[in-house]
Amino acid sequence: MLDIYTLGDEILREKTEKIKVFDSALAIFVDAMFETMGESDGIGLAAPQVGVSKQLFVVDTRRPNERLVFINPEIVETSFEQGLYEEGCLSIPNMYSDIMRPLEVTVQAQDLSGKSFTLHASGILARVIQHENDHLNGVLFIDRMEEEAREKLLVAYKKRHKRRK
Ligand code: NI
Repeated sequence: MLDIYTLGDEILREKTEKIKVFDSALAIFVDAMFETMGESDGIGLAAPQVGVSKQLFVVDTRRPNERLVFINPEIVETSFEQGLYEEGCLSIPNMYSDIMRPLEVTVQAQDLSGKSFTLHASGILARVIQHENDHLNGVLFIDRMEEEAREKLLVAYKKRHKRRK
């Protein structure tokens, strides 16, 4: 299992680099990401969360055959319609908040072999894609909360995780 970096770790705030080499080392790393995500009961995991500042995230919303890898992704279209949905993050354990986001997205990305694909997503998949894509830009879901609610969450988080600096 890979180590998961948490709130306060600088790497979560860095801008990620494009992946240019699609080799077996990348495939092995992606397998480890899926394993780590599964063990942690997550449905999405971005590379910076496991200490690698690259444009890559994986998604598994537990639907059959939905083990998705997004490399160098770009959200090219979002729906006008937005909605609230409760989000959490393996890098901010045990904290949840309703976040407003577009309900549908179209994303372009590359797969493990470097092949480009375009995916239109709605529902929970659209939500996870946007959350994970934010990670690649150093953005966390708490950044999308209103200030007062975010401050409350951070106080509760610090109480829960006192051992961390
Ligand atoms: Ni997250």
